[in-house]
Amino acid sequence: MRKTSSPRIAPSEITPRDLYHDRRRFMQAAAGAAAAALWPHWLSAGEKLPGVRKTDHVLPDALTPFEDVAHYNNFYEFGTDKETPSRTAGSLKTRPWTVSVEGEVQKPKLFDVDDLLKLAPLEERIYRLRCVEGWSMVVPWVGFPLAELIKRVEPTGNAKFVEFITLYDPARMPGQKSSVLDWPYREALRLDEAMHPLTLLVFGLYGEVLPNQNGAPVRVVVPWKYGFKSAKSIVRIRFVEQQPVSTWTRAVPSEYGFYANVNPQVDHPRWSQAKERRLGEFFKRPTLMFNGYAEQVAHLYAGMDLKKFF
Ligand code: MTE
Repeated sequence: MRKTSSPRIAPSEITPRDLYHDRRRFMQAAAGAAAAALWPHWLSAGEKLPGVRKTDHVLPDALTPFEDVAHYNNFYEFGTDKETPSRTAGSLKTRPWTVSVEGEVQKPKLFDVDDLLKLAPLEERIYRLRCVEGWSMVVPWVGFPLAELIKRVEPTGNAKFVEFITLYDPARMPGQKSSVLDWPYREALRLDEAMHPLTLLVFGLYGEVLPNQNGAPVRVVVPWKYGFKSAKSIVRIRFVEQQPVSTWTRAVPSEYGFYANVNPQVDHPRWSQAKERRLGEFFKRPTLMFNGYAEQVAHLYAGMDLKKFF
């Protein structure tokens, strides 16, 4: 049997247009809430970061094993040798944590780190990171381009540099009780370097929340520069007009310049920068200009004497 006539719908049963849109908004909000529910409580080291998308930032190089990335660290707030940070950085409580984005911006904002990491889609990007000391690693970082944050705070015309400032809290960062560096750790980039699509605001690695010793809960990674430019455990991001003096430049200005671009032709005053040792490997390999990212970044330094601006 076929029903031929469609049932009559009483006008009272037709959803008014406004209510329909309200419902749609409600459903969207509910879907958003469901997505947010994927985010557990406060994320802690080792937890899987949800919703991370893969990108085409891959390399022919083999990945450095997680164990090496997480157990061979420079993080002077937790000691000056490579092995101590992985043993002692557990004392760093990374929640609650806020990041103040301030200075020469139209929309300064104090972010809770769990809101900050939802600002833009999280991506996995495989980057080389080369330390000025001559070792390097290849890491699947998780984060999003720093430019995503910068666009939202709207730098003023006076913003020429971006400074990154690490937490200062000697109770949580015992290395700060020593005067080996001038605390808190500070680093900075030119605004165009900070806006470059390769510059990443990083919350994780190997798909998981950053281990504390790698700079939890949030750090930057600037793959064409020596590792010391990639400040860890950031609490302030400041937009300024004058070029800031970074921690390592203040400590030894003749050895650590503002630019710190990886450059095999410009030696450190005390050692050659021509080669590097990949963590986990025995033989050294040649260091690449701009750490292999010359095609993407060399134009930022066109006409500059890279021996002078090291
Ligand atoms: N950030 C802070 N706050 N303190 C540090 O001592 N060391 C830098 C950089 N960021 C450092 C820092 C140096 S010298 C390097 S090589 C990288 O962090 C090392 O990052 P990794 O431990 O994740 O390899």
